[in-house]
Amino acid sequence: MKIGILCLGLAALVFVGSCKKDKDNTVNAPQPQVYLDLSDTAGKYFKGNYAEVTDMKAVLGRVLFYDKQLSINNAIACASCHKQEFAFADNVAASRGFEGRLTGRNSMALQNFTSGNPTNIFSPFTTGFLFWDGREFSLINLVSRPILNHVEMGMDDINKLPAKLAALGYYQNLFRDAYGSDSITMERISDAMAFFMSSIVSGESRYDMYLQQKGELTAQELHGLQLFNQKYNCASCHRVVTGAYPASHIANIGLDATTTDRGAGAIDGIGFPDGSFKVPNLRNVARTAPYMHDGRFNTLEEVIEHYSSGIQNHPGLDDRLKDEYGKPMRMNISKAETQSIIAFLNSLTDYAMLAEPKYSNPFKTK
Ligand code: HEC
Ligand code: HEC
Repeated sequence: MKIGILCLGLAALVFVGSCKKDKDNTVNAPQPQVYLDLSDTAGKYFKGNYAEVTDMKAVLGRVLFYDKQLSINNAIACASCHKQEFAFADNVAASRGFEGRLTGRNSMALQNFTSGNPTNIFSPFTTGFLFWDGREFSLINLVSRPILNHVEMGMDDINKLPAKLAALGYYQNLFRDAYGSDSITMERISDAMAFFMSSIVSGESRYDMYLQQKGELTAQELHGLQLFNQKYNCASCHRVVTGAYPASHIANIGLDATTTDRGAGAIDGIGFPDGSFKVPNLRNVARTAPYMHDGRFNTLEEVIEHYSSGIQNHPGLDDRLKDEYGKPMRMNISKAETQSIIAFLNSLTDYAMLAEPKYSNPFKTK
């Protein structure tokens, strides 16, 4: 019930961004009033013993995730490039950062990092490789990277962020509820955002209902599932199981014959060839176009066309995509099979997650 109290307090007390002074009596257009509404966090984020504590961290993390004040010029929030309606990916090949410059790679969906068990975020093994090139392992350590990134959010000194947030006035209560005191530190900021991100779980798609024997798939979807799991063995890389499962594999799928982006090949100590990238989690994949690390494909048809006839003979090409002579595999996926695979992939859309209020923007405008 702690959450309920917090909501009332915030809804009543917090008004931000509406304080333009009208000094010279000129008629200004009315400024929209922005306020924090946390009333829809009443649904719990986590289950189990520590749910009450961890929920308050996720509540704080949600506010931080949507707050543009985390960027140097107050122009960009995490959510500017990670949008709920697209499973927290973006619908453009490259996203625009705080100065309008483009990111070097396609924004990634954020979902199913841990099995809905927040303690997993402390273990790199359950989170798996992070970023397209696997350069990060820990959700907590990841958080400061986009904040400091010169294209994304542009904060020049991460140590200035706590003081900046403290001056806003609406964070003290949130930190106190989550951590027992209102001191704002970078450790707490990272921790809270990691809890929020790890609370984002997709597990209510039609495919999940089918696995849990609560619903059925059509004949075409079942055909696609069979092609995905068996005939074309997509599942050897893309694990699509019920509830949360972190995708932690990295592979070169022969998008190019020569290296255009070294990807994981440029990261010391993880041992992958040039041109290899994280295997994306295909949950909600119908919503995460454009596809691949550079957003080169606009549709699922184009993706399947790549696997069917477009795999290039890159020296780092994954063995699972080679034929018996070591050449790039030609799967020759028929039109009907393509449609079945896409029908199956569409069954992975989790409409509940994409519209879930507790993941949505808590900054509302009047
Ligand atoms: C300007 C756009 C932009 C902003 C702002 C942004 N991101 Fe990202 N995010 C990206 C891109 C692009 C990638 C992929 C980068 C790469 O792999 O090189 C990414 C990747 C990630 C990943 C890795 C996901 C995975 O499955 O490996 C996480 C987690 C993430 N971002 C969280 C955040 C958080 C938290 C914030 C705010 C503090 C944030 N992002 C702000 C564009 C953005
Ligand atoms: C050898 C491992 C491997 C196999 C087998 C494989 N994939 Fe992939 N898949 C990947 C990797 C790695 C990427 C990301 C590559 C990149 O961005 O450079 C990817 C990307 C995708 C994407 C784009 C997802 C996104 O969010 O951008 C889709 C869709 C996809 N694969 C579907 C399939 C299907 C369907 C099959 C079977 C016909 C298949 N994959 C077989 C490893 C694999």
